[in-house]
Amino acid sequence: MIEPRGLLSISKILDGLSLERIGTRVELVEQTGSSNDYVWAVAEEGASDGYVVFTEHQTCGRGRLGRTWLMPRGAGVMLSLLLLDDAHHRNPPPETVSILVGIAVTRAIRSSADVDARVSWPNDVYVGRRKLAGVLTEMRTLRNGSRAYVIGLGVNCLQTADHFPPELRTRATSLDLETSSPVVRERVAAELLRELDRCFGDASRWTPEFVRKSFHELTVPLGACVQLTHAGRDYRGRTIDIDPTTAIVIELDEGGRMSFPASGTALLYEPADTDA
Ligand code: BTN
Repeated sequence: MIEPRGLLSISKILDGLSLERIGTRVELVEQTGSSNDYVWAVAEEGASDGYVVFTEHQTCGRGRLGRTWLMPRGAGVMLSLLLLDDAHHRNPPPETVSILVGIAVTRAIRSSADVDARVSWPNDVYVGRRKLAGVLTEMRTLRNGSRAYVIGLGVNCLQTADHFPPELRTRATSLDLETSSPVVRERVAAELLRELDRCFGDASRWTPEFVRKSFHELTVPLGACVQLTHAGRDYRGRTIDIDPTTAIVIELDEGGRMSFPASGTALLYEPADTDA
């Protein structure tokens, strides 16, 4: 557990922020199972588009591909956001939503902390070879027939190396480990809301051209060594090309090139030789 300098303050997060679509209602729930599940439950009760829940602690935090997501209480910024897809609100297709969120989170981190954050396909955020933030995008049909997305994200802020399990120490990081400047969680949270609002409030950002350009401006350079798991098999190789909303192309160590879709693919950047 981390002793933060007080609970996340919603009033500080919203102070001076001008939002159009996101943040119609913003709450802090000190502890929950998973903030995504919390938002799904409130969505069934009629929550409005743009509803946001922050939490300080999750007892059953969920990651992509059925994994668990662990973060000590108060260590980061965790939020879930509801986007409705109904007569009044439009959204991009699911694969575009996922990529856009990764881009938005990366931008928010870069503007709120002095770190070289990069989006890693499809939507993790890395600093160097270590993961800083993750995104879980879910789509369901509500009982009233509306389709909806819940977008959950977690940004590691205040952890020291000891807070990560030994097997993750070369693979995970936090803002505090990456910068000597003080990390203010409300600042990170405010930038996340600002960037999410930009990306879902402005449909001109949903075109394949815009998504591809924005992604490549912010991603880990091509040619990096990666490990992938897809359909129960592990692969290693180098990244050759990424079309963010469709697939990543890898030059495999075992020979040949292969293309992997985002759905069902886990990707890890290999630790650099110099990593401890
Ligand atoms: C991943 O990297 O696999 C995705 C991690 C997503 C974690 C966030 S924390 C807030 C929200 N609630 C959850 O249960 N998961 C997401």
